Amino acid sequence: MPPPARLATNLAGMPLASPVLLAAGTAGTLDEMGDVLDLSAIGGIVTKSITAQPREGNATWRILECKVGMLNAIGLANVGVEHFETHIAPRVPGVPTTVIGSIAGFSIDDYVRVAAAMDAVEAMPAVELNVSCPNVRGGTEFGSEPGLLRELVAAVRPALPGTRLFVKLSPVAVASPHGIADFARAAIDAGARPEGPNQRPGADGLCIANTLPAMAIDVRTRRPRLANTTGGLSGPAVHPVAVKLVYDAYRHVCRDTGTPIVGIGGILRWDDAAEFILAGATAVQIGTGLFADPHIPLKVQRGLERWVRSQGAANISELVGMVQIG
Ligand SMILES: Cc1cc2nc3c(=O)[nH]c(=O)nc-3n(C[C@H](O)[C@H](O)[C@H](O)COP(=O)(O)O)c2cc1C
Repeated sequence: MPPPARLATNLAGMPLASPVLLAAGTAGTLDEMGDVLDLSAIGGIVTKSITAQPREGNATWRILECKVGMLNAIGLANVGVEHFETHIAPRVPGVPTTVIGSIAGFSIDDYVRVAAAMDAVEAMPAVELNVSCPNVRGGTEFGSEPGLLRELVAAVRPALPGTRLFVKLSPVAVASPHGIADFARAAIDAGARPEGPNQRPGADGLCIANTLPAMAIDVRTRRPRLANTTGGLSGPAVHPVAVKLVYDAYRHVCRDTGTPIVGIGGILRWDDAAEFILAGATAVQIGTGLFADPHIPLKVQRGLERWVRSQGAANISELVGMVQIG
């Protein structure tokens, strides 16, 4: 059953039946969640991040529950771009919802290679760049330094002449002297020459945010609980952090540039998603919540629909950025 009409929205020119999507890496490589969730009833799905080479990922334990959410150090385990091209891409047209690709890499060339493969998939209207990956050249994450981010986006943009580009920012911006606004500007104004008439020089939209760097220790064995020692925190703990990042990006950069934001982090209930909308997000993604209950996206949509109605709005887009300050 399609989502209620009041939730229909438009994300960077892409019509979505609902603003509720499944987050990268938390819902299989493509449509595996379709076994337990009617994909035609939600707004869309994001693929697992695909890299140039296939990856086994980190040793286990690489995913675990903690008091305030989940810790993971999956290490970008994925099938690699060649398998994506031959086995995954041909299945995209049959998926009954909007599919957004996710790209990861350890060098700019890696990202460009995967971007070109995804651009060739006509049924995939958009991709996300996962920039929380260390750059082999210097070891810093692409998303942790605005200059490096700008360089990456400028190189990838021309490889996507027919595909919208979303840049998924890292929440490390919260503790960075640059702040989220500098990262947002770097992503959307990367300086590459637009290839198509409706294209921006950089990103068409931003996804905010990825997991927060974190660690857990087993005090009995005195060993880190993740085999990789550290990992990324997701779930309820990151939610208020992500709401502030969305709020800051919207009011400092995105409102004026008309850049849509996808809010991500710790959505378990409809009101978590509504907070993102009020802070300035046009759409949201759910990740960790799916591990607790794969039907959370439908419950969130039902709650959002009632909320939009109770706010006297005809459509959810009327509430984007409408938090009342002061
Ligand atoms: C197990 C797991 C795997 C993930 N894999 C990816 C990934 O491949 N690419 C990516 O951009 N984000 C990945 N993420 C981050 C999520 O997409 C999301 O940004 C983050 O978990 C915050 O949202 P949440 O609190 O709703 O999970 C992963 C998260 C988890 C928990």
